[in-house]
Amino acid sequence: MDTCNVPVIAIDGPSASGKGTVAQRVAEKLGFHYLDSGALYRLVAWAAMRSGADLADESILGGMAARLDVIFRDGKIQLGEEDVTDAIRTESCGRVASRIAAYPGVRAMLLERQRAFCQSPGLVADGRDMGSVVFPCAVLKIFLTASVEIRARRRHKQLMEKGIDANISNLLQDLRERDMRDSGRSVAPLRQGEDAHLLDTTTLDIEQAVKGVLECYARIGETGRPGSNR
Ligand code: DC
Repeated sequence: MDTCNVPVIAIDGPSASGKGTVAQRVAEKLGFHYLDSGALYRLVAWAAMRSGADLADESILGGMAARLDVIFRDGKIQLGEEDVTDAIRTESCGRVASRIAAYPGVRAMLLERQRAFCQSPGLVADGRDMGSVVFPCAVLKIFLTASVEIRARRRHKQLMEKGIDANISNLLQDLRERDMRDSGRSVAPLRQGEDAHLLDTTTLDIEQAVKGVLECYARIGETGRPGSNR
Protein backbone atom coordinates (compact mmCIF):
# COMPACT_ATOMS: atom_id res chain seq x y z
CA MET A 1 0.00 0.00 0.00
CA ASP A 2 1.44 3.32 -1.04
CA THR A 3 0.17 6.07 1.25
CA CYS A 4 3.19 8.34 1.58
CA ASN A 5 4.44 10.62 -1.13
CA VAL A 6 6.60 12.56 1.33
CA PRO A 7 8.86 11.30 4.14
CA VAL A 8 6.93 10.14 7.18
CA ILE A 9 8.42 9.44 10.60
CA ALA A 10 6.08 7.17 12.58
CA ILE A 11 6.47 7.25 16.36
CA ASP A 12 4.38 4.66 18.20
CA GLY A 13 4.38 3.78 21.85
CA PRO A 14 2.35 3.42 25.03
CA SER A 15 0.55 6.16 26.95
CA ALA A 16 2.70 8.74 28.72
CA SER A 17 5.89 7.56 27.02
CA GLY A 18 6.59 11.15 25.95
CA LYS A 19 6.08 10.34 22.28
CA GLY A 20 3.82 13.36 21.73
CA THR A 21 6.39 15.88 22.97
CA VAL A 22 9.21 14.10 21.17
CA ALA A 23 7.25 13.86 17.90
CA GLN A 24 6.29 17.53 18.06
CA ARG A 25 9.88 18.65 18.65
CA VAL A 26 11.21 16.42 15.86
CA ALA A 27 8.59 17.89 13.52
CA GLU A 28 9.62 21.43 14.52
CA LYS A 29 13.32 20.70 13.97
CA LEU A 30 12.70 19.22 10.54
CA GLY A 31 10.00 21.72 9.54
CA PHE A 32 7.57 18.82 9.06
CA HIS A 33 3.85 18.62 9.75
CA TYR A 34 2.77 16.87 12.93
CA LEU A 35 -0.09 14.43 13.53
CA ASP A 36 -1.23 13.63 17.07
CA SER A 37 -3.42 10.66 16.17
CA GLY A 38 -4.39 10.05 19.81
CA ALA A 39 -6.15 13.43 19.75
CA LEU A 40 -8.57 12.07 17.14
CA TYR A 41 -9.55 9.14 19.36
CA ARG A 42 -9.83 11.53 22.30
CA LEU A 43 -12.07 13.82 20.22
CA VAL A 44 -14.44 10.97 19.41
CA ALA A 45 -14.44 10.01 23.11
CA TRP A 46 -15.11 13.59 24.15
CA ALA A 47 -17.94 14.01 21.62
CA ALA A 48 -19.45 10.70 22.75
CA MET A 49 -19.28 11.62 26.44
CA ARG A 50 -20.66 15.08 25.75
CA SER A 51 -23.66 13.73 23.84
CA GLY A 52 -24.26 10.85 26.25
CA ALA A 53 -23.81 8.31 23.44
CA ASP A 54 -23.81 4.62 24.30
CA LEU A 55 -20.09 3.74 24.47
CA ALA A 56 -20.94 0.17 23.52
CA ASP A 57 -22.57 1.22 20.25
CA GLU A 58 -19.85 0.88 17.62
CA SER A 59 -21.93 2.20 14.74
CA ILE A 60 -22.94 5.41 16.53
CA LEU A 61 -19.32 6.00 17.53
CA GLY A 62 -18.14 5.25 14.00
CA GLY A 63 -20.62 7.84 12.72
CA MET A 64 -19.25 10.39 15.18
CA ALA A 65 -15.70 9.65 14.03
CA ALA A 66 -16.73 10.16 10.41
CA ARG A 67 -18.39 13.50 11.15
CA LEU A 68 -15.72 15.04 13.42
CA ASP A 69 -15.68 18.74 12.57
CA VAL A 70 -12.15 19.38 13.81
CA ILE A 71 -9.50 21.98 13.08
CA PHE A 72 -5.91 21.66 14.34
CA ARG A 73 -4.29 25.10 14.28
CA ASP A 74 -1.32 26.67 16.12
CA GLY A 75 -1.28 23.95 18.77
CA LYS A 76 -5.01 24.40 19.43
CA ILE A 77 -7.78 21.91 18.70
CA GLN A 78 -11.20 23.17 17.78
CA LEU A 79 -14.25 20.93 17.52
CA GLY A 80 -17.09 22.79 15.85
CA GLU A 81 -17.17 26.15 17.61
CA GLU A 82 -15.47 24.91 20.76
CA ASP A 83 -11.80 24.98 21.82
CA VAL A 84 -11.28 21.48 23.27
CA THR A 85 -7.47 21.56 23.50
CA ASP A 86 -7.42 20.99 27.27
CA ALA A 87 -10.77 19.23 27.63
CA ILE A 88 -9.63 16.16 25.68
CA ARG A 89 -6.46 15.75 27.80
CA THR A 90 -8.19 14.54 30.95
CA GLU A 91 -7.52 11.03 32.26
CA SER A 92 -11.18 10.09 31.88
CA CYS A 93 -11.18 11.15 28.23
CA GLY A 94 -8.00 9.09 27.68
CA ARG A 95 -9.63 6.06 29.26
CA VAL A 96 -12.72 6.32 27.06
CA ALA A 97 -10.53 6.96 24.00
CA SER A 98 -8.63 3.75 24.71
CA ARG A 99 -11.94 1.88 24.99
CA ILE A 100 -13.53 3.15 21.80
CA ALA A 101 -10.24 2.80 19.89
CA ALA A 102 -10.79 -0.97 20.03
CA TYR A 103 -13.72 -0.65 17.59
CA PRO A 104 -12.72 -1.37 13.97
CA GLY A 105 -15.62 0.85 12.84
CA VAL A 106 -14.12 3.85 14.66
CA ARG A 107 -10.57 3.16 13.45
CA ALA A 108 -11.70 2.79 9.84
CA MET A 109 -13.48 6.16 9.93
CA LEU A 110 -10.32 7.91 11.16
CA LEU A 111 -7.93 6.33 8.67
CA GLU A 112 -8.21 8.71 5.71
CA ARG A 113 -8.34 11.72 8.00
CA GLN A 114 -4.95 10.70 9.39
CA ARG A 115 -3.48 10.03 5.97
CA ALA A 116 -4.54 13.51 4.83
CA PHE A 117 -1.82 14.91 7.13
CA CYS A 118 0.79 13.40 4.85
CA GLN A 119 1.85 16.58 3.07
CA SER A 120 5.02 18.20 1.82
CA PRO A 121 7.70 18.58 3.09
CA GLY A 122 7.06 15.64 5.47
CA LEU A 123 5.18 14.38 8.49
CA VAL A 124 5.92 13.18 12.00
CA ALA A 125 2.99 11.12 13.28
CA ASP A 126 2.56 9.69 16.76
CA GLY A 127 0.16 7.06 18.03
CA ARG A 128 -0.16 3.30 18.36
CA ASP A 129 -0.46 2.10 14.76
CA MET A 130 1.29 4.80 12.74
CA GLY A 131 3.99 2.46 11.42
CA SER A 132 1.86 -0.68 11.19
CA VAL A 133 -1.43 0.52 9.68
CA VAL A 134 -1.71 4.21 8.88
CA PHE A 135 1.72 4.85 7.32
CA PRO A 136 3.25 1.46 6.57
CA CYS A 137 5.48 3.25 4.04
CA ALA A 138 7.07 5.52 6.70
CA VAL A 139 10.79 6.04 6.08
CA LEU A 140 11.46 5.75 9.79
CA LYS A 141 9.48 3.83 12.41
CA ILE A 142 10.24 4.35 16.08
CA PHE A 143 8.79 2.44 19.00
CA LEU A 144 9.20 4.87 21.87
CA THR A 145 8.66 3.49 25.33
CA ALA A 146 9.69 3.73 28.98
CA SER A 147 9.03 1.66 32.08
CA VAL A 148 5.48 1.96 33.38
CA GLU A 149 6.78 3.33 36.70
CA ILE A 150 8.66 6.17 35.04
CA ARG A 151 5.68 6.92 32.80
CA ALA A 152 3.41 7.16 35.86
CA ARG A 153 5.89 9.50 37.54
CA ARG A 154 6.11 11.71 34.46
CA ARG A 155 2.33 11.85 34.09
CA HIS A 156 2.04 12.70 37.80
CA LYS A 157 4.50 15.58 37.45
CA GLN A 158 2.69 16.84 34.37
CA LEU A 159 -0.69 16.84 36.13
CA MET A 160 0.69 18.49 39.28
CA GLU A 161 2.25 21.23 37.15
CA LYS A 162 -1.17 21.87 35.69
CA GLY A 163 -2.60 22.10 39.21
CA ILE A 164 -4.48 18.80 38.83
CA ASP A 165 -4.38 16.59 41.90
CA ALA A 166 -3.27 13.05 41.10
CA ASN A 167 -2.32 9.90 42.93
CA ILE A 168 0.69 8.03 41.60
CA SER A 169 -0.56 4.54 42.41
CA ASN A 170 -3.87 5.24 40.66
CA LEU A 171 -1.96 6.54 37.65
CA LEU A 172 0.21 3.43 37.65
CA GLN A 173 -2.83 1.16 37.69
CA ASP A 174 -4.53 3.23 35.02
CA LEU A 175 -1.49 3.07 32.73
CA ARG A 176 -1.21 -0.70 33.20
CA GLU A 177 -4.87 -1.13 32.26
CA ARG A 178 -4.49 1.14 29.25
CA ASP A 179 -1.34 -0.68 28.09
CA MET A 180 -3.24 -3.96 28.30
CA ARG A 181 -6.24 -2.62 26.39
CA ASP A 182 -4.15 -0.88 23.70
CA SER A 183 -1.88 -3.86 23.10
CA GLY A 184 -4.45 -6.58 23.66
CA ARG A 185 -7.10 -5.48 21.16
CA SER A 186 -7.52 -7.49 17.98
CA VAL A 187 -7.38 -4.55 15.57
CA ALA A 188 -4.21 -2.44 15.18
CA PRO A 189 -2.78 -3.39 18.60
CA LEU A 190 0.09 -1.46 20.10
CA ARG A 191 3.30 -3.39 19.58
CA GLN A 192 6.79 -2.89 18.28
CA GLY A 193 6.90 -3.84 14.60
CA GLU A 194 9.86 -5.78 13.26
CA ASP A 195 10.82 -2.77 11.16
CA ALA A 196 10.65 -0.30 14.07
CA HIS A 197 13.65 1.03 16.02
CA LEU A 198 13.25 0.72 19.77
CA LEU A 199 13.87 3.91 21.72
CA ASP A 200 13.62 3.31 25.46
CA THR A 201 13.45 6.66 27.24
CA THR A 202 13.40 5.31 30.80
CA THR A 203 16.75 6.98 31.47
CA LEU A 204 16.55 9.69 28.80
CA ASP A 205 15.17 13.19 28.97
CA ILE A 206 13.13 14.74 26.15
CA GLU A 207 16.11 16.36 24.43
CA GLN A 208 18.03 13.08 24.41
CA ALA A 209 15.01 11.27 22.98
CA VAL A 210 14.59 13.93 20.27
CA LYS A 211 18.28 13.60 19.44
CA GLY A 212 17.86 9.82 19.22
CA VAL A 213 15.07 10.11 16.65
CA LEU A 214 16.93 12.76 14.61
CA GLU A 215 20.06 10.60 14.55
CA CYS A 216 18.06 7.62 13.27
CA TYR A 217 16.53 9.83 10.60
CA ALA A 218 19.90 11.24 9.56
CA ARG A 219 21.24 7.70 9.21
CA ILE A 220 18.42 6.81 6.85
CA GLY A 221 19.04 9.92 4.76
CA GLU A 222 16.39 12.26 3.52
CA THR A 223 15.46 10.34 0.40
CA GLY A 224 11.79 10.98 1.01
CA ARG A 225 11.02 8.02 -1.20
CA PRO A 226 7.83 6.18 -0.47
CA GLY A 227 8.44 2.88 1.19
CA SER A 228 12.16 3.48 1.52
CA ASN A 229 12.46 1.56 4.78
CA ARG A 230 16.12 0.80 4.99
O1 DC B 1 -1.84 8.90 22.69
P1 DC B 1 -3.07 9.18 23.56
O2 DC B 1 -2.90 8.82 25.01
O3 DC B 1 -3.57 10.58 23.40
O4 DC B 1 -4.21 8.22 22.97
C1 DC B 1 -5.46 8.03 23.60
C2 DC B 1 -5.99 6.65 23.25
O5 DC B 1 -6.30 6.58 21.87
C3 DC B 1 -5.03 5.51 23.52
O6 DC B 1 -5.19 4.95 24.79
C4 DC B 1 -5.35 4.50 22.45
C5 DC B 1 -5.97 5.30 21.34
N1 DC B 1 -5.10 5.45 20.18
C6 DC B 1 -5.10 4.42 19.27
O7 DC B 1 -5.74 3.40 19.48
N2 DC B 1 -4.38 4.53 18.11
C7 DC B 1 -3.66 5.64 17.87
N3 DC B 1 -2.97 5.72 16.74
C8 DC B 1 -3.61 6.68 18.83
C9 DC B 1 -4.34 6.55 19.98
